[in-house]
Order: sequence, then structure tokens, then C-alpha cells
Amino acid sequence: MNEDMTVYISSVRELMHTRVGGVPLAYVRTYGCQQNVADGEKIKGLLSEMGFEFTGSDQEADLIIFNTCAVREHAEDRVFGNVGALKNLKRRKPDLIVGVCGCMTEQRQVAERLQKTFPFVNMVFGTHVLHRLPEMLHRILSDSQRVMLLGHEEKAIREDIPIRRDGRSRAWVTAMYGCDNFCSYCIVPYVRGREKSRRPDDIFSECRSLVESGYKEITLLGQNVNSYGKGLDEQVNFAKLLTRLDGIDGDFRLRFMTSHPKDASEELFDVMAAGKHIPHHIHLPFQSGNDRVLGEMNRKYDREKYLSLIAYARKVMPDVTFTSDVIVGFPGETYEEFQDTLSLIKEVEFINLFTFIYSPRPGTKAAGMPDPIPHEEKTRWFAELLKVQEGIAVYNCKKLVGSQQRVLVEDRDQKTGLLSGRTAGSLVVLFPGEDSLVGEFADVEVTDAKGWSLRGQQVH
Ligand code: SAH
Ligand code: SF4
Ligand code: F3S
Repeated sequence: MNEDMTVYISSVRELMHTRVGGVPLAYVRTYGCQQNVADGEKIKGLLSEMGFEFTGSDQEADLIIFNTCAVREHAEDRVFGNVGALKNLKRRKPDLIVGVCGCMTEQRQVAERLQKTFPFVNMVFGTHVLHRLPEMLHRILSDSQRVMLLGHEEKAIREDIPIRRDGRSRAWVTAMYGCDNFCSYCIVPYVRGREKSRRPDDIFSECRSLVESGYKEITLLGQNVNSYGKGLDEQVNFAKLLTRLDGIDGDFRLRFMTSHPKDASEELFDVMAAGKHIPHHIHLPFQSGNDRVLGEMNRKYDREKYLSLIAYARKVMPDVTFTSDVIVGFPGETYEEFQDTLSLIKEVEFINLFTFIYSPRPGTKAAGMPDPIPHEEKTRWFAELLKVQEGIAVYNCKKLVGSQQRVLVEDRDQKTGLLSGRTAGSLVVLFPGEDSLVGEFADVEVTDAKGWSLRGQQVH
């Protein structure tokens, strides 16, 4: 940690303590993808250093931070609604500090609108300046300034930000930041900036210390992990990084997301097949099954290339499972073209799909394309897709009945009261068991498939 950061941290610690007359409470709400969750854990790491404890209730908090996502319009609308709802709370608690950060704020017009619409918001800051949170809080506390800090993409990656992890058995580790792909519908490259890879040594030591402290699952993060290593002095790519991390001793799973089909390589699948710790599951977003639409999306692969990747992965890992992301109703997509998406889904038999109706993002290329299909019609296509996928998901679950699976137990399912764990292939299994199993591996025999999830019994 550099000296400036340390000075601001101790100053905020004292000022906050005096302001609330005890230990200050923070409520940090994160929206969006795992990258944002990882950022949220850094924000909490810094706050923890500054003496904050955490609460799940905005009503009792002394500091509220919304860590936002800009990927679809709906995500942004929710944030405007939720920040707006704080108006009354702030009236009752004038000392409450409110901050908005994350991807939404990296769009200048949105950041300005947030600041203008909500005069009670004390700070608005972007994704590249997390390390300056102590300094921003210091400015708010010492001279009641409103702070807006955006842009400033730093050349070097900050390795000195403390992390307060939400989980004790599963951890997120950023492998790379940013995205250079500019898929025509997507806002991420604009809000997250250019790709930057962390040094392999830094990733290795973080992962090793996680395993040493008992973490059972590490997920490496990047918008396109397959372009890991570009711009580093070391000669390294993602497959080589995985091989090195797979060499860490211990009982743990090493996952990663997201893999872009344009860069997914046979080398990567070979490394997965040979790995000791790498589950045979790949999240490989295809977005559309139609070549014209894929071209317009600027995805840089076609249906054939996608299917050949799937075939190769299946060849080297017969038990591999796939999940994916898909967009319905991209501008200009016809119903016939949408049928190609359905046929791809049937061909691959994903165990799970993350499905989205296209949402125009101002400033992206697709937002300027003619989009004649009404929203209601896209909603009907969407429902058609969900129905097809539901059948496939149920079929995929049924196939596993009678098999024995090693699951990592995540928590207790609220509805059934059963333990909930995940197989290597990333399917959920519910089974009866003691609380002490949470965060541990268990061997389970699959006895039944109920809709999207499996039921089982522990085998001893
Ligand atoms: N980097 C990852 C995805 C990040 S965004 C990748 O390339 O696969 C997560 C998902 O949100 C995308 O895969 C896409 O399916 C969806 N998405 C992104 N922008 C969208 C938009 N404008 N409208 C609808 N869905 C979108
Ligand atoms: Fe968005 Fe494409 Fe980058 Fe993924 S690869 S974050 S979809 S631009
Ligand atoms: Fe959303 Fe930003 Fe992730 S836009 S999906 S939180 S990178």
C-alpha cells in the first residue's frame, strides 16, 4: 500500500469514528458480473481497513455504496430507482454518506445525470479509481465536498488494494481487466477500458495463498480470459497460466470465465483435460447461431467454428458440460435467423443458458442499427427459446441419475432445507446433510432429477 493511501485510511478511520460515535457501518450493494463482485470485495477491503463493519440493511448504514452495472438498460434503471429511494433516508440521517461507482459511472453522461438528479449523492467514482476511495472519503469528511472521480485509466495494475472476500470457500481472482473486443452491442469495452493482464506471479501467489487458507474453488476472471498475457513482458498465454496454477498443491477446483470462442484454443481444452484441478465445464458464450448476425455482432467467429470447438472439447473431455450466453432480438435479426440460434441450442445441449433480450446501449455500434422487430415479438421469441432450453436442461439432469458426483457444498437451500452443492460440471445437487459440510467437498449419489436441479444422498 502506498503512503498516501495509508495516511488517508487512518484519517478516515478517525473522522468516521468521531462522526458516528463508534464503529461505522457500511452497506455495499453490487450489481452485474463477477468482475464487479470482485471490485466490491476490494471496496469492502478498503472500508474494512478504514474501520468499517458491514450491514445487510441500508437503513442502519452510515455509508451506502452502489457498485453498478451498465450492460443492459434494465440494470441501469434499477440503480436509478434504488438510489432515488434513499432520498427519505438521507433526510432522516443527514450524516449518511452515499456513493455510486461501477460501470454506469464510466459513461460520463450517466455520471453527470446521477450527480444532478440526486443532490444527496456524495461521491460518484469510476472503475479505475477504487484505490482512491480513502482519499475521496477523506475529502467528504474533512470539507464536506461532493466528489466525482472518473476516467483515469492507470498504466500499472494496483496490486496493493486489500480484499475482503464474501465467501470462505469460493474466491474470485481477476486474471485480467478490460476488454478490447468491441462486440457491436456491448458497453463493457467503453466502461472497463483496454485489456490489461495481471502478472502471472501475482496471480499465482494470490491463488496459492487462497488454497493455503482453505479455499476450495478459485474462479479466474476476465471478459475474455483467452487473450490473457498480451502486453506482458513474460511469454505467457491463458493455457500456460492455467497449467501453472493447476500445479498448486491442495484440494481445490480451478474455474475460469469468460472464454471468447474467437480465441478459445485446442491448447486450452488439452490443458483442461490434463489438469488435476480444472473441472470439465466451459462457459462459452455463442450469442447467436446465425452467421450473418454473428458478423453484425462483430464476434469474429461463425457457427461452424463454434461447433468445432465444442466437438474438440468433447473429444478430449467426454464428460465436459457447457453453459453459454445468448442474445435474442439483435437489431435486424429475423425469425428465420433466430431459428438458427434454437437449432444450435438443440445441437450443443447446454446444461444452462444465460438468456438476454437485446438492449440498446447508447454509444455502441448496434444502438445505431435499424431495429424493426417490436419488443413484444422479441419477448415471444425469448419465451420460445426458454421452453426449448428447459427441455434440454431437464434431459441433461436426468442423464445423471444413478451417477456418483463430487460436489462442493455451497449453502443450505432455503426452499427445501437441503444442502446445495455443485458438481464439477456445474450442476446443482440438493441433498440432506449437516451444516458442517458447507464449504466442503462431498461425494453424492444422484437419486433423482427435479426440473433444473438434481437430488441426491451422500455416500460415505
Ligand atoms: N465478456 C463476456 C460477456 C460479458 S457481458 C463475453 O464476451 O462472453 C455478459 C453477457 O451479457 C454477454 O455475453 C451478452 O450475452 C449479454 N449482453 C451484453 N450486452 C448486451 C446488450 N446490449 N443487450 C443484451 N445482452 C447483452
Ligand atoms: Fe462485451 Fe464482447 Fe467484450 Fe464480452 S467480449 S465484454 S460481449 S465486448
Ligand atoms: Fe456490468 Fe460492468 Fe460487468 S457493465 S456486466 S458490471 S463489466
